[in-house]
Amino acid sequence: MELPVPIMVKETGAGICREIASLIARETNVKAIDVAGLGGTSWSAVEMYRALRRKNYYAAEIAKNFWNWGIPTAVSIIETRIGAPNLKVIGSGGVRTGLDVAKALAIGANVAGIALPALREAVKGIENLEKYLRRIIDELKIAMLLTGSKTLKQLRKTDVVVTGRVKEWLEQRGIDIREYLEKFR
Ligand SMILES: Cc1cc2nc3c(=O)[nH]c(=O)nc-3n(C[C@H](O)[C@H](O)[C@H](O)COP(=O)(O)O)c2cc1C
Repeated sequence: MELPVPIMVKETGAGICREIASLIARETNVKAIDVAGLGGTSWSAVEMYRALRRKNYYAAEIAKNFWNWGIPTAVSIIETRIGAPNLKVIGSGGVRTGLDVAKALAIGANVAGIALPALREAVKGIENLEKYLRRIIDELKIAMLLTGSKTLKQLRKTDVVVTGRVKEWLEQRGIDIREYLEKFR
């Protein structure tokens, strides 16, 4: 079947790994992958609250134990870029500020996505949403100024240092961050 519009694959809060990104790139004709990684809205948490509402404490306990299941967003952006180097990568899952947007772009996302905080502002009113998005833009501009990036293209090539849990995770997955930054961004 052919669709007249470009198709995107997205996760919903647990991230996409290199192997799945590669499979998507090989086997489908999708144009973009939204990683929706771990670190933001947790659908296991949503399931826990739904189970609690039904007083199903058994299901709630299980959902709670999977609250943090998934691939962190930063790792997922990098893995998806490696697995599907020719697709557009949307970095999302826990993106909350313009600085988060800048970080997502700097490690290889083409764009960033925000769900929960934008929805929270939107239900309060369009002015609240606009104020939130203006802050995101201002923070992104500040991050660009601080990294000497005149354009988003330059920001996407700015030097990056990866520390802590993300560094450990990438090492265990056999990903050399310096090599990645040079070859895949
Ligand atoms: C209220 C709400 C409804 C959502 N509904 C959908 C949906 O229908 N389909 C979908 O693919 N993702 C849905 N998502 C998931 C988001 O698109 C996103 O992948 C996830 O929330 C992680 O981003 P965040 O941390 O910025 O919220 C929803 C998220 C929220 C908060």
